[in-house]
Amino acid sequence: MSKNQVQIFDTTLRDGEQVPGCKLNTEQKIIIAEQLDMLGVDVIEAGFPISSPGDFNSVVEIAKIVKNATVCGLTRANKKDIDAAAQALKYAVKPRIHTGIGTSASHIKYKFNSTPERIIERAKDAVKYAKTFVEDIEFYAEDAGRTDNEYLARVCEEVIKSGATVLNIPDTTGYCLPEEYGAKMKYLRENVKGIENVILSCHCHNDLGLATANSIAGVQNGARQIECTINGIGERAGNTALEEVVMILKQHPCLNLDTNINTKMLYETSQLVKHHMGLTVQPNKAVIGDNAFAHSSGIHQDGVIKNRETYEIMNPEDVGVNESSIVLTARSGRAALAYRAKKLGYELTKIQLDTVYPEFLSFADKKKEIEDADIHKIIELSKIYANKKVA
Ligand code: KIV
Ligand code: ZN
Repeated sequence: MSKNQVQIFDTTLRDGEQVPGCKLNTEQKIIIAEQLDMLGVDVIEAGFPISSPGDFNSVVEIAKIVKNATVCGLTRANKKDIDAAAQALKYAVKPRIHTGIGTSASHIKYKFNSTPERIIERAKDAVKYAKTFVEDIEFYAEDAGRTDNEYLARVCEEVIKSGATVLNIPDTTGYCLPEEYGAKMKYLRENVKGIENVILSCHCHNDLGLATANSIAGVQNGARQIECTINGIGERAGNTALEEVVMILKQHPCLNLDTNINTKMLYETSQLVKHHMGLTVQPNKAVIGDNAFAHSSGIHQDGVIKNRETYEIMNPEDVGVNESSIVLTARSGRAALAYRAKKLGYELTKIQLDTVYPEFLSFADKKKEIEDADIHKIIELSKIYANKKVA
């Protein structure tokens, strides 16, 4: 059975760039867009063209150079925003306008001082107007996570009739539980006329740490696009991390879902974004963090040395990391010490290991991590020399 394809919509350059202090210039945005295109993302949200002349220009330049992906520009539901996006996208081979409006009771009342009926009219008008410029129109129902499902279904049905090709159901505030978000997708699939002709999209924020789980629940319930960012960066606690959802789909074949991502480029892409955004990645970050394939406790190290699969559910090479690492600390055991010593050329016998290990522990208790130079020193000080130095 062939796998169902999930489109990856990358918004690193739009939602990701909303992180305070992470402003990128056009040159940096082009470098990242080229990398995303090579990585295999299906859609690149290049920016919010009306927001500033710099962002407008970045969208223009990205639209010119991207060869494979659809290039998308964000707008609010008004003509000025849509005009700017249409202008900025005019060189794109595959342009998409991403327009929308808040649909939750709170957005309707406090943001727009409006009514549900007037919001539907604005949504329809925006989609129809955008459709006069490009064929591919994505509509977002902002705060859909907290929008009443019945009303959301009405909004969706109307924008489909107006020409929307993709429906984005954002959990803007990161509030939904995975079951709830999945059920929302299911409800829309079962209650919106014409839904079979459009792509349903997940756009989840990470305020409660559920962005990835919610996106997966979304695709399990029929969504076929995930909006995400490299390293999970984005507004407040961030967006769904691209590397996480892609690897979940790859590592769980039972989901029968696939993406076009070349996973071997995930690590280098993460490093590139980290470098240009100047935003560090937490060491324990799933998939691409420094410690994602590092083993430091004796029990785990012993297992990994015997067989990597004892403590690793994915191959580091599949995400572009050369190999797993055995970190030597005071929690490491003899197996790890012997393993590292061998890598450095010392083939230690059991008796030699018994002599060196206590020295190693007293060293390790004073230091956070034992480096190669420390191993040389410990072995020299122990006055035992390897029978055989491995080349
Ligand atoms: O989180 C959100 O609702 C958004 C929309 C503008 C798509 O980023
Ligand atoms: Zn967002």
